[in-house]
Amino acid sequence: MEISQKIAVVTGASSGLGAAFSVALVAKGAIVYGLARNLDKLDTLQKQLGKTFIPVKMNITDQKAIAAWVKKTFYDTYIPNILINNAGVGYFSKIDELPLQHWHDMINTNLNGAFYMSSNIVPLMKKNNASCHIVNIGSILGKTTRPDSAAYSATKYGIQGFSEALSKELRTYNIKVTCVNPGSIETRFFEQSGIESHSNMLQPKDIATFIIHVLETPCNMLIDEITLRPLLPKMKQQDQREPSSPVCYAHSSEVRKEFQNEEPLNTKFVSTHIKPKDKQI
Ligand SMILES: NC(=O)c1ccc[n+]([C@@H]2O[C@H](COP(=O)([O-])OP(=O)(O)OC[C@H]3O[C@@H](n4cnc5c(N)ncnc54)[C@H](OP(=O)(O)O)[C@@H]3O)[C@@H](O)[C@H]2O)c1
Repeated sequence: MEISQKIAVVTGASSGLGAAFSVALVAKGAIVYGLARNLDKLDTLQKQLGKTFIPVKMNITDQKAIAAWVKKTFYDTYIPNILINNAGVGYFSKIDELPLQHWHDMINTNLNGAFYMSSNIVPLMKKNNASCHIVNIGSILGKTTRPDSAAYSATKYGIQGFSEALSKELRTYNIKVTCVNPGSIETRFFEQSGIESHSNMLQPKDIATFIIHVLETPCNMLIDEITLRPLLPKMKQQDQREPSSPVCYAHSSEVRKEFQNEEPLNTKFVSTHIKPKDKQI
């Protein structure tokens, strides 16, 4: 997809990965609707990015508010080409110590929010003649688990299944769906989650740059899943040294060629699933 002039919707745009996606998309010439609850932070981002970043105060757990916003903002000739379901929360604790509210917050934000956004925007995307792309932000904890992650992992395994089924459903409508499963990223996520951060986490800007490449892949190529992990995790600051070489295990030589000079040094690009978009495999 050629991103310039395209319309993108990014949830959780007020910080971390969502803010980085917004910066990267605006830099590519997209019109970006950034959704989050904290309007002050979105306004601050708009001062930095200019008028092509449009702040939208939205709680993505509010199905009616999302439906009303989509209805009043978009119409048959003004349709989002890109939806990034990024907003998410994580709380990690033993199952018998997890407050009920935290369980509901994770289910409502990480799963219900992605469903509300997708189900309202997909009918418009189906009317778009141009290719459209939904990116769902999962987690490495949707591929594997750790102690104290039962609730969060349930949502991220859920988003993985949601994405895979949606990808199969929508590929015949010229709509790509990609699930991105990152390992630890340096964002404020760690401040509230109750788990320890480490000194060599993935950088939001690097992931955003990578996702721009994924959006720009040829129209007939569908990448339905990506797993990203930091190299040399959990190092102490003084132990840090430059990794000898980045590791890239893409299944497609074309993608491997495209990224070999651009991959950030601390990223291990573990796996991708790449399929021709219109063939049932
Ligand atoms: N950080 C990591 O290590 C890591 C690893 C793997 C996956 N992830 C995933 O990456 C995504 C982004 O997280 P992050 O690391 O960038 O964390 P972050 O900096 O805490 O950002 C989370 C974003 O989600 C928004 N949000 C939360 N609840 C919301 C709601 N009800 N309605 C609207 N927006 C809401 C927040 O905005 P407001 O508070 O302003 O609403 C914020 O913009 C999440 O899905 C997370 O699960 C993170």
